[in-house]
Amino acid sequence: MKFSTDHFLYGGDYNPEQWLSTPEILEEDIILMKQAHVNAVTLGVFAWSALEPSNDEYHFEWLERIIDRLYENGISVILATPSGARPKWLAQRWPEVLRTDAFRRRALYGGRHNHCYSSPVYRKKTAQIDRLLAQRFGRHPAVILWHVSNEFGGECHCALCQQSFREWLQARYGTISRLNEAWYTLFWSHIYDSFDDVESPSPLGEEHLMGLNLDWKRFVTERTGDFLAHEIHALREGGARQPVTTNFMYDYAGLDYQKLSDLVDIVSWDAYPLWHSAPDARIAAECALQHDRMRSIRKGPFLLMESALSSTNWQPVSRLKRPGLLQAQGLQALAHGSDSILYFQMRQSRGASEKLHSALIGHSGTGDTRVFYEAAQTGLALQQLRELCGTQAPAHAAVFYDTQNRWALEGSEGPRNAGIYYRETVQKCYNALRRLGLNVDVLDQTQPLEGYHIVAAPMLYQLRGDIVERLCEFVERGGSLLCTALTGVTDDSDLCFLGATPYGMTELLGLQRTEVDALYDGESNTLVRQAADTTDFAPVYRCSRLCELIKLSSAKPLLVYGEDFYRGTPAATINQYGRGFAFYLSADAEDSCFNDLLRFIALRAQLPIRFPQGLPEGLELTERIGPQGSYIFLQNFSNASQPVPTLPAAQFFWGTRGPKNVDLLSPFDTAIFKLPASEAFDENNKGVSVL
Ligand code: GLA
Ligand code: ZN
Repeated sequence: MKFSTDHFLYGGDYNPEQWLSTPEILEEDIILMKQAHVNAVTLGVFAWSALEPSNDEYHFEWLERIIDRLYENGISVILATPSGARPKWLAQRWPEVLRTDAFRRRALYGGRHNHCYSSPVYRKKTAQIDRLLAQRFGRHPAVILWHVSNEFGGECHCALCQQSFREWLQARYGTISRLNEAWYTLFWSHIYDSFDDVESPSPLGEEHLMGLNLDWKRFVTERTGDFLAHEIHALREGGARQPVTTNFMYDYAGLDYQKLSDLVDIVSWDAYPLWHSAPDARIAAECALQHDRMRSIRKGPFLLMESALSSTNWQPVSRLKRPGLLQAQGLQALAHGSDSILYFQMRQSRGASEKLHSALIGHSGTGDTRVFYEAAQTGLALQQLRELCGTQAPAHAAVFYDTQNRWALEGSEGPRNAGIYYRETVQKCYNALRRLGLNVDVLDQTQPLEGYHIVAAPMLYQLRGDIVERLCEFVERGGSLLCTALTGVTDDSDLCFLGATPYGMTELLGLQRTEVDALYDGESNTLVRQAADTTDFAPVYRCSRLCELIKLSSAKPLLVYGEDFYRGTPAATINQYGRGFAFYLSADAEDSCFNDLLRFIALRAQLPIRFPQGLPEGLELTERIGPQGSYIFLQNFSNASQPVPTLPAAQFFWGTRGPKNVDLLSPFDTAIFKLPASEAFDENNKGVSVL
């Protein structure tokens, strides 16, 4: 099943169960939500106690009443299953539902998102309530989507989970000796005699066995996925017809989201960047990458399920969003492929931990606030932008940001325990491509490479499955590939490859690694351009943290080290392979080096680049394409006004300030230009510069 909508969803989490004793508030909320152009709310997240106040005693009538009222007022419902937090009676009667931590301590009752996914009781009770909810609301015309649980995450180390981990390992390895080989347990005499001896990683026990750590993380994803599938199954058993989703989190590395993607009908996620904690241009670029990661999971529109209207209460500092940012952040999600802007939350709670979290309707209960006004403006904008709903955001360039590789790199002892900076390196590649005005997909190494012209696979330390063959084939057929330091070091069990590395790619890259130097914080080296007369590269760049030493076979140097005992040896290279080129950057270089190298790569790849000189810092360009044409979003996330570059053949379509003054974008302003389908900027229109 697929979720699709013909209009952008606008609204967010709403908890009417907190206001049942003041029905007038519920009525006022509906009036205010309509004023803000809200058309969808998420109900039922954490509502278990109100739905089942004691074992097997169900009260759905309040929920039905509010769903009906919302429906009468043109507001759809995304209905959550309540399993994100359990009622106290459940934990008291069946303590097995509580999670056990890595120290093997069973939690006391409290908090949320902290239950055991293996517990038969938890599974039984969630299935029971999910089935009943589905029976009651599975065909309700207001309910358009199921929101399973909330922000799945964390892990449980209880006896039940240990047992399923052992069974999972048995299925994966077959014999204990295969497990011993894969985990290299002869080292420090850690050989297992039987699967029954295996324990999940623990600070009290085994922490250093990377094979165990990686398999445990894979198992945690599998367990979570199994629990998600279990809930979906219960909804279907209850007769629910609507599509399902579950909300993912910002840059969350506890789960391999790619593995959960087939279970849901649409990807949705919660975006809470730390706006204003650093230059907003930087925060916006980081958030853009996360949006693109979410879109790339299923290569299609996703939903922004939660975001904050203004401040959050849980970040270190509850900074207000500056005027205009509420709309800019929402439209950024849209630009990157979201078919919704949803918030946490519609009405601010009176008590407990989130009482000071921003909301559409605050404690004052009025719409006469700055936040409400900005939210209403944004709701109106979504109505005006309706024809963009469901359009795609296809990309010619891709960057790998692979969760399992991240586990391995960040968990590896050496070469740099003081920080390996994987995410930052991915971000540098991503920013460099986006600066050129390109849409970028953010992929996992298991995803298909067809259709891309450029793939940047930074720090691809762990190689899984047939990735080497696929990268070789990609370049052979004419693609351009960028690899960087620490490529091709270990297999999926974190065993180092024997022989020349980057493993399987020495011919592709035309080089091999000889040594890896890690630099202390504060130390640096330089990268010097090889051809003195070129304008492709600056004379010198700074690099730090990681400097690999490489020996070239067929590759040609573009940059060489400027200092240390490896001064003059290659650091950035190009190698022709089949019809394409493979590039290598062996050091953790500064941003401008990534920018120049990826521009050099993109120009050689003859990609349609709108801005070969690079967009000004903080100006984002993103494109959605649909049957009626292409929509180019320009957004200013810098703190200064930015001139709008000319986009030939494009017509003004929408702007924060209407059609006036669109040649200058103020901070947080957006302008959208439309190119008719016939003029769409594509491969046939290569290399055109419009600046
Ligand atoms: C998360 C949760 C919500 C709420 C918000 C607050 O994303 O899913 O229930 O706690 O954070 O920002
Ligand atoms: Zn458990």
